Amino acid sequence: MGMERRGKPPVVAIVGATGAVGVEMIGCLERRAFALESLRLYASARSAGKELEFRGTPLKVEELTEASFAGVDLALFSAGSAISKQFAPVAVRAGATVIDNSSAFRMDAEVPLVVPEINPQALRRHRGIIANPNCTAIISITPLWPVHRANRIVRLLIASYQSASGAGAAAMEELREATRAYLEGRPYEQRVMPHPYAFNVFSHNTRVDPVSGYNEEEIKVREEARKIFADPQLRVSATCIRVPVLRAHSVAITFECQRPIAAEEARRLIAGAPGVKLVDDRERNYFPMPRDASGGDAILAGRIRQDLSDPSGRSIALFVAGDQLLKGAALNAVQIAEALIAPGNG
Ligand SMILES: NC(=O)c1ccc[n+]([C@@H]2O[C@H](COP(=O)([O-])OP(=O)(O)OC[C@H]3O[C@@H](n4cnc5c(N)ncnc54)[C@H](OP(=O)(O)O)[C@@H]3O)[C@@H](O)[C@H]2O)c1
Repeated sequence: MGMERRGKPPVVAIVGATGAVGVEMIGCLERRAFALESLRLYASARSAGKELEFRGTPLKVEELTEASFAGVDLALFSAGSAISKQFAPVAVRAGATVIDNSSAFRMDAEVPLVVPEINPQALRRHRGIIANPNCTAIISITPLWPVHRANRIVRLLIASYQSASGAGAAAMEELREATRAYLEGRPYEQRVMPHPYAFNVFSHNTRVDPVSGYNEEEIKVREEARKIFADPQLRVSATCIRVPVLRAHSVAITFECQRPIAAEEARRLIAGAPGVKLVDDRERNYFPMPRDASGGDAILAGRIRQDLSDPSGRSIALFVAGDQLLKGAALNAVQIAEALIAPGNG
């Protein structure tokens, strides 16, 4: 919509520019030399007037209003679902294409849910809004796509170890403060997380369905993996846990294929997956870690081995780690924007 016809670089807006994801989107646009005419930064009234640097120039953050999208071609949203529900339609009416990081539109049948390495063709059917998937879903399934294409995955078991930054800037600050207080023997009243965060792990901080027992994060991973793989039959069960890590999510994965698959074959396919780096050194006991994934674009994959609990030889276990602020959010959104402005899309 709009950009290709205009034939010149787009005017880009970031909504939620001061947040954990927003700041990374600014960095990705700069690092990847994204061709744009100008960049506008929006957040809440709290941040109006604040300056953030882009390509060496300080840009003023403006308060988001209904009038913010005049002349905007591409709007990258990362300000929470409520803001997306209110302002994404406003942006589309103003002529912009929206790439939304929140969960507001992800399961909407009219809205493509896109990982460029898996389903770029889905972009063609957008009607102004494109959804960026859940970070844990992106990090879990991107390494598996070449396997799924070669030998269809029918069952997926996921256990995530999710970092504080997945819950935003305030959660990162809480982990730091709680840890400092713990080490100094001081009491600490948590404000952001439902449970003490220092040296503790707990079930993901989303609502639990009283009937199924699954929380919203686990249901997102299941539903979104099915939508992105365009396979509603895919059987998925996830257990999502918060861990006291500042940045980058890790995930233990077991998948079952339609036909037997050897660990060597799975390793070969995963090593060749776009956006994935193999870290699988049994001798040195060196495998994916959030420390190594943090700040990097690649999803690290390793510990690839036969699942001994499945005598049919159809199941593989592995461990992955990926920076959910980058590939799980900002980088994936900017890659979608790059695909959109590529000739033939838009
Ligand atoms: N963190 C992750 O790893 C991750 C991964 C995938 C998707 N997401 C999604 O991305 C979104 C942002 O997450 P985050 O982690 O970046 O959160 P965050 O650090 O809490 O940042 C929230 C951003 O939203 C802005 N905002 C809040 N209320 C606003 C309002 N009324 N009008 C305009 N802007 C407003 C904030 O501006 P102020 O600074 O002015 O308050 C800030 O820029 C969420 O929907 C989240 O689910 C996050």
